[in-house]
Amino acid sequence: MKKFNHLKASVFGFNFVLLQRFFKKVMEVVKTVTELREKLSAVRKDGKKVGFVPTMGALHNGHLSLVKRCVSENDVCVVSVFVNPTQFNDKNDLLKYPRTVDADVKVLASAGCSFAFVPEVEDIYPEEDTRVFDFGKVDKVMEGKYRPGHFNGVAQVVSRLFDIVEPDRAYFGEKDFQQIAVIRAMVAQLGYNVEIVACPIVREADGLALSSRNARLSDEQRKLAVKISETLFKSRTFADQNSVADTISFVTDTLNGISGLQVEYYEIVDGNTLQPIRSWNETSYAVGCITVYCGDVRLIDNIKY
Ligand code: PAJ
Repeated sequence: MKKFNHLKASVFGFNFVLLQRFFKKVMEVVKTVTELREKLSAVRKDGKKVGFVPTMGALHNGHLSLVKRCVSENDVCVVSVFVNPTQFNDKNDLLKYPRTVDADVKVLASAGCSFAFVPEVEDIYPEEDTRVFDFGKVDKVMEGKYRPGHFNGVAQVVSRLFDIVEPDRAYFGEKDFQQIAVIRAMVAQLGYNVEIVACPIVREADGLALSSRNARLSDEQRKLAVKISETLFKSRTFADQNSVADTISFVTDTLNGISGLQVEYYEIVDGNTLQPIRSWNETSYAVGCITVYCGDVRLIDNIKY
């Protein structure tokens, strides 16, 4: 029996090493726009489908769920790792943003990514990007209201990246629910020929939505942070018997009642238009979007009712 186990381990060990070698060989780390364009134009000549996952790095399983889906649905998967300065309305947040490029490149290789695109700021923005977008109502509420300029910066960088990568499909997480609506509006307005694929939120075992910012939580704050998803889940049952306004109060009051947490906003909106609803009858797609400060760490989450 012992002998058999040993054999099994070595078989698995062997496969693992082979797989690792295989992935290391196929993934390329590309640092410049010119180089990526060249490589992708060669790929496209072969008629291959290109999938794209834009990220700001500090990769976790939430990002990896997008990467894995992209790998499985396309011939080629491009992942960008770029901390975009134009989307940070708070300089401190930009400075504190975690940067773990070496580790990111390793996990991308293991996930089957074809090209890790890791550009410098000067290459994405050779000149200052002065474009000002207007996406109607979707970028004026919630994050758009509390983080002025944030979505303009997101649209600047994602449009630049789309121009460079020219993907057939691009993958975004529902963790940033409003971001997907803004990207869809941008695609419609600028006429990109790309399919936007929305991927579900990946959570820790206890329910906390995975986020690069979670790394900044102290042990004590981490215990408080779980109350956000816990309260959102409870609010689903509450909502069965109560109005939209009362459900908003339930979530806000519960979380503000916990010392160390401060709700910035909680809104229940139509999942397509992102406009607040007053009654559950207004839509069959109601989504509650929340931002909570846990100390100085700004956490976002959302739930579908
Ligand atoms: P970033 O925060 O790095 O997230 C990259 C992608 O991963 C986004 O689409 C985000 O929604 C998704 N994601 C993050 N956490 C997730 C989770 N727990 N479950 C599922 N998906 C998750 O979002 C950005 O970067 C930037 O704004 C970007 C689009 C890259 C533009 O700079």
